[in-house]
Amino acid sequence: MTATEERALDDAIQVAPLVLRDAAKRQKVEDLLEQMRFSAATVRKIQEIFVSEMEKGIHQQPSSLQMENTYIPELPDGTESGLFLALDLGGTYFRMILLELDMGRVVRETVQKYDISVELRIGSGIRLFDYLAACVSDFVINQGLQDVELPLGFTFSFPMNQHSLDVGVLTTWTKTFNCPDVVNKDAVKLLRDALDRRGDTKVNVLVILNDTTGTLVQGATQDPDTAVGLILGTGTNACYFERADRVEHWETERHGEKEVIIDIEWGAFGDNGVLEFIKTDFDRENDANSLIINSFTFEKYIGGKFLGEVVRVVLKQLYEKGLLFESHNPTDLLTPGTLTSDLVSDVESDTVHGGFENTRKVLQKFGITTEEDDMKIVQYVCEVVSNRAALLISICLAALLERMNKKSATIAVDGSLYKHHPRLKGWMNQYISLLAPRHKFKLIGAEDGSGKGAALVAAIAMRLKKRLE
Ligand code: BGC
Repeated sequence: MTATEERALDDAIQVAPLVLRDAAKRQKVEDLLEQMRFSAATVRKIQEIFVSEMEKGIHQQPSSLQMENTYIPELPDGTESGLFLALDLGGTYFRMILLELDMGRVVRETVQKYDISVELRIGSGIRLFDYLAACVSDFVINQGLQDVELPLGFTFSFPMNQHSLDVGVLTTWTKTFNCPDVVNKDAVKLLRDALDRRGDTKVNVLVILNDTTGTLVQGATQDPDTAVGLILGTGTNACYFERADRVEHWETERHGEKEVIIDIEWGAFGDNGVLEFIKTDFDRENDANSLIINSFTFEKYIGGKFLGEVVRVVLKQLYEKGLLFESHNPTDLLTPGTLTSDLVSDVESDTVHGGFENTRKVLQKFGITTEEDDMKIVQYVCEVVSNRAALLISICLAALLERMNKKSATIAVDGSLYKHHPRLKGWMNQYISLLAPRHKFKLIGAEDGSGKGAALVAAIAMRLKKRLE
């Protein structure tokens, strides 16, 4: 990075200064939040560490980045046709999707959402998979397809060790799930066994995939330059096309593949301590309140499950220091998990459009009616926390663009946080351009990669398997 580029970056990553009537208070708030702000030099350091962790991961050396082989070496070729099922587990809901493809395009889609109770999400694995199989049967029988052989793409959006297209051993749960007896087990086998126990459908689990892979493949139907799939939802992660000769973990026979999709699992970036220098007291408290502590360090700075919680922790600490909500007793705000990320997006809309309408409403939810200065502090905190997330994502994406070194690369993005946050996209465009100035890129929204994308991936898997017969 040249000195000019470094200066431009330093300027771009500034957030608007906090303006309060009470200058001493403003100074204290800004000082406390300073630990969440990065200089251009810190940004560069994070990027270097990310590059080195990627390199170690791909060479099977100890690293916080799993760099998992998905065994998907190609994109849809426009011949994909037929009926496919997709099962989507990983976000807030569990979904069953029936898709009809005609020459690579989705022509019909039926979706059914099923609730997954907390007891199922953090209970026994057998119960969870029996429930998934019951939903599959319910859905398939409702469609009158119980006697039809249906290929299924299983979107399982958790880190796994993939031994082949249809063997995915869970490494650890993330987000809102924690069924400890599933860890180190093959999720495909668990699903097949549960379906066999029922024996009331003819579903064939063909492939297991991550939501980022589905997003990349879905994005490719919109833009053939798509080379990265990114999720900014409850969790965060990305996958990209890697040169096949660089990939060491490849358990199946190779067939002259030039590239393959690698699931980075960047949510775990820093789990080995390499990012300790950016961890703040707020992050430590956020981690301590999470379902699996000391795990998924990077995701806890960014994911929709955590962004609101980081904001809440900062507000709580400001309150405890007497810098916010002075005459209030904000009990709800003091309880972990009460401030969700959609509320951060609402507050950020005020910062974009001016005024306090949303901020006031958000605070009212917590029983707080307060003066403008308090609302300005809340807006400032939301901005600093969101901006840090945007910067961290951009750092990694810029590193990917440099690694792939393509003429032009499109990044397909899906996830509730990306869709609802009013500023992430703008910041990401700006920061990626500054961090990878010599690389042409585009961010596109890829709708429902874990559903439509899963059907396309199942069709690709079918084609790959047929080719080998
Ligand atoms: C999981 C990833 C997934 C991401 C987005 C993370 O918690 O580990 O596999 O892609 O969430 O859903």
